This record gives sequence, C-alpha cells and structure tokens, in this order.
Amino acid sequence: MIIQVKHHLGEYPVYIGADLLANPQTWLSHIKGRQVMMISNQSIAANFLPLLHHHFKHLQCDQFVLADGESSKNWQNLQQIWDALISQGHRRDTTLVAIGGGVVTDITGFAAACYLRGVNYISIPTSLLAQVDAAIGGKTAINHPRGKNLIGAFHQPQAVIIDTHSLRSLPERHFRAGLAEIIKAALIQDQIFFHFLENNSAAILARDEKILTQIIYRACQIKAHIVMQDERENQQRALLNFGHTFGHAIECVFDFKDYLHGEAVAIGMVLAARLSLTETGLTVAEFDRIVALLDKLTLPCHLPPTIDSEKLLQAIYQDKKNSHQGLNFILLTKIGQSIIKSIQPEILKPLALPSPS
Ligand SMILES: NC(=O)c1ccc[n+]([C@@H]2O[C@H](COP(=O)([O-])OP(=O)(O)OC[C@H]3O[C@@H](n4cnc5c(N)ncnc54)[C@H](O)[C@@H]3O)[C@@H](O)[C@H]2O)c1
Repeated sequence: MIIQVKHHLGEYPVYIGADLLANPQTWLSHIKGRQVMMISNQSIAANFLPLLHHHFKHLQCDQFVLADGESSKNWQNLQQIWDALISQGHRRDTTLVAIGGGVVTDITGFAAACYLRGVNYISIPTSLLAQVDAAIGGKTAINHPRGKNLIGAFHQPQAVIIDTHSLRSLPERHFRAGLAEIIKAALIQDQIFFHFLENNSAAILARDEKILTQIIYRACQIKAHIVMQDERENQQRALLNFGHTFGHAIECVFDFKDYLHGEAVAIGMVLAARLSLTETGLTVAEFDRIVALLDKLTLPCHLPPTIDSEKLLQAIYQDKKNSHQGLNFILLTKIGQSIIKSIQPEILKPLALPSPS
C-alpha cells in the first residue's frame, strides 16, 4: 500500500505493508547517492541494523546508535551525529536513515535538515506512534531543557517505510499508546473508521497484521490529507491536536514520568469530548462510545484521583500561551467531525477535577 504525500517542494511515498524491510526492492531506489548513515537506538539496533547493513552493502554504510529514551532527543546527540557525518566524509548526496520510534525519526530528520544545509533522509518508523504520527508531515525536532520539541525544522523525507512486522517486538504499553493516535484520527475525520475500530478491537489488540495494516493505512491517510492542506500548521493541521492540549498538560503535571504521550492523549480526548458535549453538540451516546472504545483498547480514560487540578489548569493555559492560539480547542461536533472553537477559561475548571473513584 502506498500513500503519496505532496508538499511545497515535491512529494514522497509512505509505503505500508508486512515485510517491507526484508524486501527492499520497492524503496531502495529512494537512496540516491553512495552513502548512508543509519540512526537508531540501543534497544532496537540489533533487531534491524544487520538486515539493513546487508541491503546497503553496495554503499558506504555508517551507523549512529543513540541511548533509548526521550532524553536522547538533545543537542549533544545532534552534534555527535553531525560530527560522525563530517568525520566519515558524508557528502551532500548522503542519505540519513532513521530506524526507530518518534525519538529517532525526529532527531534524524532534524540532523538531515541542517547537515550541509539539508540532505536526504528516509524514515523507517518502528513504533506504532511513529508510524501513524511522527514520521509523517515533515516536523523534526529536538528537545530543549525548557521544553519538548522547541528546536526543530520542517524537513520532508524522501520516503517513509512502515513495516508492520516491525511492531511484533514493540512493548505492549507503547503499542497501546500508539493506538490513541489512531483513535484520534478516526474521531477528527472519519466516523466509518471509528466504527471499524469498535468492531475490530479484539483483532487490534491481538496485533492481527491484516487489521493493523488497514488501520495504519487509514490513520496515515488522514494525517497525510490534513498536512497536505496545511503543511506549516497555520490552521487545519491543528485538528491533529485533538486531545493534545489536555494530554500535554497531564504529561507536564506528572513530569513526563507517569504517562506515555498516547496515554495522556487518551485522557485528553475524553476531556475534549466532554467539552464537546456542551460546546459543539456531541451527544452523550457518542461520548459513551468514545470512552468505551478507549477502555476496550485498555487506554486510560480518566484523570487520576491524585491530580492537582490547579496545576493542570495552569499547564493548559501555558500550552495555549505557547501556541499563541488563545483558548482555541479542537472539539467534536460528532464522531468523525472536528472544529476549532474558542473557549472561555472558566468552562475548563470542572473538567480539571479528578474523576470520582
Ligand atoms: N514529528 C512529529 O510530527 C511528531 C509527532 C508525534 C510525536 N513525535 C515525537 O515522537 C516521540 C515519541 O515517539 P515514540 O512513542 O515512538 O517514542 P520512542 O521513540 O521513545 O519509542 C518508544 C519505545 O519503543 C521502543 N521501540 C520502538 N520501536 C520498537 C520495536 N519495533 N520493537 C521494540 N521496541 C521498539 C523504543 O526503543 C522506545 O523504548 C516524542 O519525542 C514526540 O515528540 C513527533
């Protein structure tokens, strides 16, 4: 399966299928020069790099392996990637190849955006979240000590290769966190897709590859469609942030320790859906379906009883201040249809209260 993503400088394919890494004929031609630098992390390098080394044996093939974890998306690692590229003589026609989750695809994309004023890169996302979200759309970044993704660039890949086999080794918690972004895609754009997720939840949790390929394809299609309309996030692309203002605030209140991004977004989507009940006419029946699907896919749906509501509200206001969007929220008019709506701050207060246990 292929999705073609157009941008202001051209277009790139997103290949989706089982065993694409073992069978590189479809995508190897996207490497144009004679050099590649593979970038991955310590936990997964042994799973994927030997096979890729084999595919790249006709090229100068170097590798850079990061420590696992969000803290690797930092300036020091970026500098070291550039040091390695320079010392190993990588030229303007080199290709950086990211193999990993969103941490690896984000830092690799940014390294490629700046090296020699921009070189090619190919993304091979191996976590579900990176496959349906981070690897598509051209946003690349590293973190700053004062905040996530504060330093970055828009830089589009030559190709994205999503091999559903790679998900076999993905830890369960990360797999489920990735599902939150798939549910988000359905909620903002596609009622029929939401229904499909409801009907196939058992197969999804069992990682049935046929179903996984279908839902990854549809989620990527929705993301691609939105980013093609608004590459630089001036308006429409903000729809992809459904549940994310609340989600970011939850991550922030818990110091980015207790919740994975997708887990925080799952709770954030329930809060945004609750707000949609009063603000944009989502029905109670639809709200209940949203909670039921998240629950079936074993994602958290409620704020923990220990949450500090005041801190949560402050984190929400801070997120909005950073985005210069005022108090605009992405809300649902119904399942599969989303809009951007300005909200009065006091409406948020009851939402920030912990759920009764
Ligand atoms: N650029 C964007 O548009 C965008 C969008 C969403 C998220 N992001 C970024 O993505 C990052 C989060 O991505 P993530 O959730 O993939 O985190 P991650 O990269 O830390 O990966 C999650 C965990 O899964 C492991 N892993 C990945 N693939 C595996 C596999 N096939 N088998 C076994 N283990 C595997 C990783 O080693 C890691 O421990 C954040 O930094 C976030 O800012 C970027």
